[in-house]
Amino acid sequence: PARYTLKKTVVLVGMMGAGKTAVGRAVAAKLGAPFLDSDAEIEAAANLSVPEIFTRDGEAFFRKRESEVIARLLDTARCILSTGGGAFLAQGNREVISQRGVSVWLNAELDLLWNRVRHKDTRPLLRTRDPKATLTALYEARVPLYSQADIAVPCDPALSIDAMAIRVIEAL
Ligand code: S3P
Repeated sequence: PARYTLKKTVVLVGMMGAGKTAVGRAVAAKLGAPFLDSDAEIEAAANLSVPEIFTRDGEAFFRKRESEVIARLLDTARCILSTGGGAFLAQGNREVISQRGVSVWLNAELDLLWNRVRHKDTRPLLRTRDPKATLTALYEARVPLYSQADIAVPCDPALSIDAMAIRVIEAL
């Protein structure tokens, strides 16, 4: 794609397993822009992993940290910012993101998401008796919110991370 100068921070949103971190990193590399990840920022500040934070302090605590990190990062440099799957759910977060950034929903189908997350133990919300049913319920509840993003980019499982990154850049 042609050179693209970032006018605003590009905020990747969408379900866990959509590829926000991997695609975000590739978009940043192609644009020569800094890459930041809200989960990684929260982990670094707490010196704990996301599952550890959920276990020790609970989801509400994590959501507070997440809102603070997103507001702070949007205040600083223009960058590519990948967020956790829950970041676009709170209205306050959506407002901050839409005022100061451009939101991009990586829209992946449920089967793809499930195939990507099923073998991992890094998603505390899926530590339930029936993680597939939990993922399905989260998906159905969240799609109406993700669809409020400025831009939606469909995830094609046949595309590489680089090819997905190009799709995102072309949609900006
Ligand atoms: C969450 C998604 C995770 C992480 C936390 C909660 C969610 O991020 O923030 O486990 O609510 O969907 P990823 O989307 O990067 O997995």
